[in-house]
Amino acid sequence: MSVHKEVKKVTTHQLQEMKRRGEKIAMLTAYDYTMAKIIDHAGIDVILVGDSASNVMAGHETTLPITLNEMIYHASSVVRAVDRALVVVDLPFGSYQGNSKEALTSAIKIMKESGAHAVKMEGGREIKDSIERILTAGIPVMGHLGLTPQSIYKFGTYTVRAREEQEAARLLEDAKLLEEFGCFAIVLEKIPATLAGKVAKNLTIPVIGIGAGGGVDGQVLVTHDMLGMTHEFSPRFLRRYLNLYDSMNNAFQQYIKDVKSRDFPSENEQY
Ligand code: KIV
Repeated sequence: MSVHKEVKKVTTHQLQEMKRRGEKIAMLTAYDYTMAKIIDHAGIDVILVGDSASNVMAGHETTLPITLNEMIYHASSVVRAVDRALVVVDLPFGSYQGNSKEALTSAIKIMKESGAHAVKMEGGREIKDSIERILTAGIPVMGHLGLTPQSIYKFGTYTVRAREEQEAARLLEDAKLLEEFGCFAIVLEKIPATLAGKVAKNLTIPVIGIGAGGGVDGQVLVTHDMLGMTHEFSPRFLRRYLNLYDSMNNAFQQYIKDVKSRDFPSENEQY
């Protein structure tokens, strides 16, 4: 008799329960099958198929060029790997801003074709109609405030947001509105820790931070950054758990040496 243990999947409801219990939420990005499998087996709560794929996977300078179909390709690869984690996918730039009907079409397409469990959208009150329309279709929405990279040409820089009183007050208002609209969680990116902590205290939905300090309900990092694969990117909030750039570089150099010196393949590595 085979004993098949059913994996208990993470749900949006469970994330809200985790906040209520004071249990921190761990989230990481993934864009492909192999990485997602390793991250899911490690026990992560949420996998974000971020539009940072535009930078990390495609080499673009910003997140703006990535398309809905490219996000679907990445998200469906991740979904095929995952047994337990909640998979959230970014709606890319241009697929939801300004027209709530198009936003709903984009959200339905990405959910249908990727199998992801929720979408993430950047912005506050200005995307109210799109968020509300997507929610009416039963699609869970994660908000994203603070540094919102899809608006980089409006901000002009990737520096810390909401240091000024007025912007901080607006961000807190927007966070409350996102909860009111029905978002199940919010990401806060690169804002002062005191403000992020205040937002988390004022909301009942989980607030997940990246560069937003320890007073929030969970943390997210870009996996390639925390593994030290992207060594040119070093913001203060980034903790590197490995230096994979150097390890991989050494392995590649050794392989090249072995091939050139005829050391590889050996007698035992052939038929
Ligand atoms: O696209 C992404 O990876 C993100 C995280 C930085 C939160 O939005």
